[in-house]
Amino acid sequence: MDHKNKSSSAPLYEALLAYRDSKQRSFHVPGHKNGQAYRHFVEQAEAGQSPAKDIVNEEHQHKVEIQSNAGGNVNRRIEQFSSVEKHGADLESGERYGDEGVRSEIELAPVRSFLEMMEMDVTEITGTDDLHHPEGVIREAQELAADCFGAEESFFLVGGSTAGNLSLLLTVCDEPNSIVLVQRNVHKSVIHGLMLAGARAVFLEPWVDPASGLAVMPSVETVQAAVQSYPEAKGVFVTLPNYYGMGADLTPIAEVCHAAGMPLLVDEAHGAHYGQHPELPVSALSCGADGVVQSTHKMLTAFTMGAMLHIQGPRLNRSLLRQRLAMVQSSSPSYPVMASLDLARRLLHVQGANTFTAGLAAVDAFKRGLAELPRFQLLQPAQQLQPEPPAGTAKPAGMPVSAAQRTREGLTAATMPSAAGYTAQDPFKSVIYDGAGVLSGYGLQQQLEACGCVPEMSDERYVVLLFSLGSTVQDAQHLLQALHHISSADGHEQVQQSNAESSHQLAKGSAHYISTWNNLQEKTRYSEPISFTLQPIVETDTINVPIEESAGCRSAEMVIPYPPGIPLVYPGERISTSMVARIQLLRDEGAKFHGVSDASLQSLRLMKE
Ligand SMILES: Cc1ncc(COP(=O)(O)O)c(C=O)c1O
Repeated sequence: MDHKNKSSSAPLYEALLAYRDSKQRSFHVPGHKNGQAYRHFVEQAEAGQSPAKDIVNEEHQHKVEIQSNAGGNVNRRIEQFSSVEKHGADLESGERYGDEGVRSEIELAPVRSFLEMMEMDVTEITGTDDLHHPEGVIREAQELAADCFGAEESFFLVGGSTAGNLSLLLTVCDEPNSIVLVQRNVHKSVIHGLMLAGARAVFLEPWVDPASGLAVMPSVETVQAAVQSYPEAKGVFVTLPNYYGMGADLTPIAEVCHAAGMPLLVDEAHGAHYGQHPELPVSALSCGADGVVQSTHKMLTAFTMGAMLHIQGPRLNRSLLRQRLAMVQSSSPSYPVMASLDLARRLLHVQGANTFTAGLAAVDAFKRGLAELPRFQLLQPAQQLQPEPPAGTAKPAGMPVSAAQRTREGLTAATMPSAAGYTAQDPFKSVIYDGAGVLSGYGLQQQLEACGCVPEMSDERYVVLLFSLGSTVQDAQHLLQALHHISSADGHEQVQQSNAESSHQLAKGSAHYISTWNNLQEKTRYSEPISFTLQPIVETDTINVPIEESAGCRSAEMVIPYPPGIPLVYPGERISTSMVARIQLLRDEGAKFHGVSDASLQSLRLMKE
């Protein structure tokens, strides 16, 4: 296929439009029949008529209207939809309808907004292709995605990055007890992949940024040491960027993996936009990763659950990967979700770096405004290891240091300083904290929400404010107003600190600071292999113990602060004294936990020994 000419098309999305406009009679799933199952009720409600009216006649009338004026009909429908809000307002006053009308309006209101989507919610029929055996529009759409994101092959995921992580691990762990080298601070989907694969994980300790106290990915030395100790490992799995948008150059890690004949797998769930603009960090694929999972729905524009898996190189068994994808993904994948992936790709393909101009302007406006609010500080890399590019050239954030540059500066994979762990920050993740030390991240999030600004997440110290290509300068202004209000409401707005003073204090405090992301096992670069299995733990083999008495025992459950969803403890793992303290602190700060039998975390479920 000639991708250059095709890049402005969206073959899958266009197939859905053609299907919708063809007005064929459906004798196949889905049962809502393009929304027909609801449409006549909605129209009756809007006309204020009783549901007993001649349904067949009404439906016929509706079809004739659509056929005679497909374009105009969209406008008519938009008008109808805006009148819904008005009807809703009327409803509250109870003036417009009789009892019957009010009841049907209430019952049908949520359905109405789904009707347009249902018209495009199709299944595998002639012309719409099959995700698990693509030969037509899905194949074309995936090939265009590969071209756009720089992969040899791309796969659409309808179960989020979760599906990608599961299938990657099920592919590399091709026999029971396979060893994989896995960054410890991973999303729970990685752990679930290890369980499904019956794998053994050697956990690599992440590198911790000393200034912020936040864990990023393992250093290249850690990866190298583990690779040397476990040459039989089936691959290395890392996550980059982290939830805070922090990252670094992956190239040295890719080199270490490839020298050992291992594939590098990257959970790039938060970096689907990477590499698409000079101000954005480089992508994992461009650093040499073999398999990369991206949540297109997070930082680009796909519907929720829309994600992609990108592959390059000879190190992954692609036919096995296809089989694994068919195992973990529905045989009836959502076409709206897949078409939204096609559209997200087309936007990038057509607009190129310009896709991000408005969003980056919003970020700039926010950062400029924040600089005038001394109380709230911004997380930024403390140092940039990259040499300055020649004058006049744009310096991409996290630009990889080339092999030649590394040789010139005496930096090899083995000697790259560990500080390489945080050299790039995603500009779309503005991570702020209260420099006055009054509000925790959780507290600041609550106050922002009370002002109508909903952050992505918070922890004990930080609030992550996620911008994207869809953000506007008005969003940034609203956020700044909220921060002004919060600052003046509690009387701490006078805190005057230079950035340097503030990061110094932050670094000093970091010795005691514990982030949800930091689940380090002290003094070890990597763990012993820990076995994962689907075999449930037998309840009678476990006991509930007050958390303060749990040190030294083996856990019978996962302890997962959410967000970000990274397990602190795995079933079967021994709990250290410092881990007990860490969990208690998080609990007392108000963190929410998944996976635990006692949500208040006064006790933990342990293995009887
Ligand atoms: C690092 C990371 N990986 C994977 C996932 C799962 O992504 P998805 O929600 O697209 O399944 C998440 C979700 O937050 C995540 O933070």
